[in-house]
Amino acid sequence: MVKITNNNKDWIGTSKFISSCNNRNKSVTENNDYYATEPKAVEILLENERFCKYVWEPAVGGGHIATVLESRGYNVKGSDIIDRGYKDTKIIDFLKINRENIEKDFSRDIITNPPYKYAKEFVEHALDISMDSTKIAMFLKLTFLEGKARKQLFEKHPPKKIYIFSSRVCCGKNGEFNPKNNAVAYAWFIWVKGFKGSPVIKWVN
Ligand SMILES: C[S@@+](CC[C@H](N)C(=O)[O-])C[C@H]1O[C@@H](n2cnc3c(N)ncnc32)[C@H](O)[C@@H]1O
Repeated sequence: MVKITNNNKDWIGTSKFISSCNNRNKSVTENNDYYATEPKAVEILLENERFCKYVWEPAVGGGHIATVLESRGYNVKGSDIIDRGYKDTKIIDFLKINRENIEKDFSRDIITNPPYKYAKEFVEHALDISMDSTKIAMFLKLTFLEGKARKQLFEKHPPKKIYIFSSRVCCGKNGEFNPKNNAVAYAWFIWVKGFKGSPVIKWVN
């Protein structure tokens, strides 16, 4: 779980931190980074995995993951580099947040579909800022399994489980879903910080 401090700041982050996010904002193109997750993919995750009651969605977008989590009773905090309309979205550049920026009163698992361009960085950073036993679920392209740099990541931090969608789920570009846009294969990758075994692979839906 992520350690969060209670020091009369916002639930996460500081004003200095938020201003650094605004700078980063300028380099983010909305079209390239916003692909909403089909809610069915979240339902399938929750049929297979349990999380701590307190969850952080650090690339919350329009809240397509967060809303399903809330409907299942999870207490969700959402942040994103851009406010895309999910309630109370905190403007935070996840890749710039560090342990000192995080309030310490909450313990949160992390569930997100990160920007594809920074998927590896999101995974590494989530692991870096989390306490042991924190569960981190990332909705990633199946091809995330490939690649020399990612091999090093997997050797250092093996995922505990990988849920592969045997029927395609789709992501909505800019939040608009088109069922014909299902050319990409996705999986949920589950890390538990500190886990050192071999991943279990399960095929779902
Ligand atoms: C693939 S979309 C997923 C949106 C949402 N998680 C979902 O599943 O529907 C990625 C999101 O990451 C956000 N994002 C991009 N870079 C970010 C960063 N450095 N920190 C936080 N959010 C970021 C984008 O604004 C976008 O909303």
